[in-house]
Amino acid sequence: MLKNPFFILFLLFSISSITAQDPTNIPGTIYSEELVPPYTPPRDILTTFAGQKIKTTKEWETIRRPEIIKVLSTEMYGFTPQEKIPVSYRLVEINKNAFNGKATRKQIEMTFSNNGKSLKVQLLLYSPNNKKKPAPVFEILNFCGNQSLDYDSAIVISKTLTEEFEKTVYKKRIARTERGADAYLYPLEEMIDHGIGFATAWYGDFDPDYYDGFHNGIHNLFLKDGENQGNNDWGSIGAWAWGLSRIMDYIETDKDFDAKKVAVIGHSRNAKATLWASAQDQRFAITIPNNSGCGGAALMKRIYGETASSINKLFPHWFCENFKKYNNNEDSLTTDAHELVALVAPRPLYVGSAKYDQWADPKGEFIGMYEAQPIWELYGKKRFAYDQMTPLGFKVIKSQIGYHYREGKHDLLICDWEAYIAFLEYHFKM
Ligand code: GCU
Repeated sequence: MLKNPFFILFLLFSISSITAQDPTNIPGTIYSEELVPPYTPPRDILTTFAGQKIKTTKEWETIRRPEIIKVLSTEMYGFTPQEKIPVSYRLVEINKNAFNGKATRKQIEMTFSNNGKSLKVQLLLYSPNNKKKPAPVFEILNFCGNQSLDYDSAIVISKTLTEEFEKTVYKKRIARTERGADAYLYPLEEMIDHGIGFATAWYGDFDPDYYDGFHNGIHNLFLKDGENQGNNDWGSIGAWAWGLSRIMDYIETDKDFDAKKVAVIGHSRNAKATLWASAQDQRFAITIPNNSGCGGAALMKRIYGETASSINKLFPHWFCENFKKYNNNEDSLTTDAHELVALVAPRPLYVGSAKYDQWADPKGEFIGMYEAQPIWELYGKKRFAYDQMTPLGFKVIKSQIGYHYREGKHDLLICDWEAYIAFLEYHFKM
C-alpha cells in the first residue's frame, strides 16, 4: 500500500491538515453546559452488558472487568497483542553524579525484535542515591524526546525524532525538541529530594504519532506479511500503552527501583495511554491521568469539547477502525470513560483537570471518575469525599481517588507534579 502514489498523497494531505489545524477551534464544538444535549446516562458500572448485577469483587474480576477490556479493545483502542516478544537491554550511559551527586542517571537502549524486524527505544532513568531500599518511581512517556528533559549533551536523541517532528504534528513542538527545552516542566530534582525515581521514554519511539495505515513503530513488528488491518487492530494509544508496560518490564529488572511502587503518569494523549495501560496491566500501583480528555477519563456521551468524530478525524491512527462508527453517533457508544477508569480500581487513581482545558471537558473527566467509584467501594475503599467538582485549586490528596481542578491551561505543570508527589508520599507511606 505504501508504494501506491494515491495513498502517499492521502498521507501527506492528512499530515498537513493535522499540522495546520488548531483542533480546539473545530466549528460546532460544544463549550457550554447548556448546549450539552440530553444523553443516555452512563451504564451503572456494576451492571454487565447483559444486565447482570455484580455483587462481589470476584464477579467484578472474573465477569465484568474482562468484558469491559474486551469491549474497549473491540470498539476503541483495538486489541493489544498478547504475544511476548524478545527484548534486550543495553546500558548506554550511567552517571552517578546527576544533580550534584544526589541521583544516578541511566540510559538504557531497549531493542525489541519479532518477525525478523526490530525496534529501538531509548529509556532515561533517574534514581535517588541516598536511599536504603529500592525507590518508588514515576513512569511517563514524554512528548519531545528524552533530550528535552535534560540539558546534558550525553542524553541520546532518538533517531526517528527529527524526521517525525519535521513532517508531523504541531510546528511549535519542534522548538521543544531542543536539549532541555521541556526541563522546566519536570521537577526531577524535587522528585529525587523526595526519594522518588523517574523513568521516561519518548512516546514516538514506540509508535510515531501520525497516520500511516498502522504500519510503523511497534505495530510493524507484529505484522507477519506486512499487511494488516482488522477493524479492531490496535492504534497508537494501544501501542503507547504497550510501551508503558514494557518500561515496567525493565523496571522489574533494575534493583534501583521498587517495581511494586510504580506510578504511571501521562499528560493528554499520553494520559489516555496511561489509563489504557493501567487497565490492562495491574502491576502499576498508582495511575495518574493528567488532562486526559476524550478517549481518557472524560465521558464521551456528553460530546462537550472534543468528540469521537473530532478525535478520529484529527488523529485517525489513535484508535481502532471500529471507533469511527461512533463519529457523530456518540449516544450509541457501547462503552464510555467510566468503564475505562473503573479498571484502575482498587488501586489509587489521581485525576488532574484544568480550567482552560475545556477541549478535554474537565467536568466530563470528573463524571468519568465519579461514575467509576462503586468499584473502589466494592473493595471496601472509601468513596471520593465530594459529589461535585471541587473548587479551583483544591487538591484532594489523602484519598484513594485523588483529584484536582486547577486554574490554567492544558499542561502538566509543576503545581500538578507537586500534588502527584504528595499523592505518592501518602500512598507509599514515605
Ligand atoms: C489534541 C487532541 C487531544 C489530546 C491533545 C494532546 O488536542 O485533540 O485529544 O489530548 O492533543 O495530546 O495534547
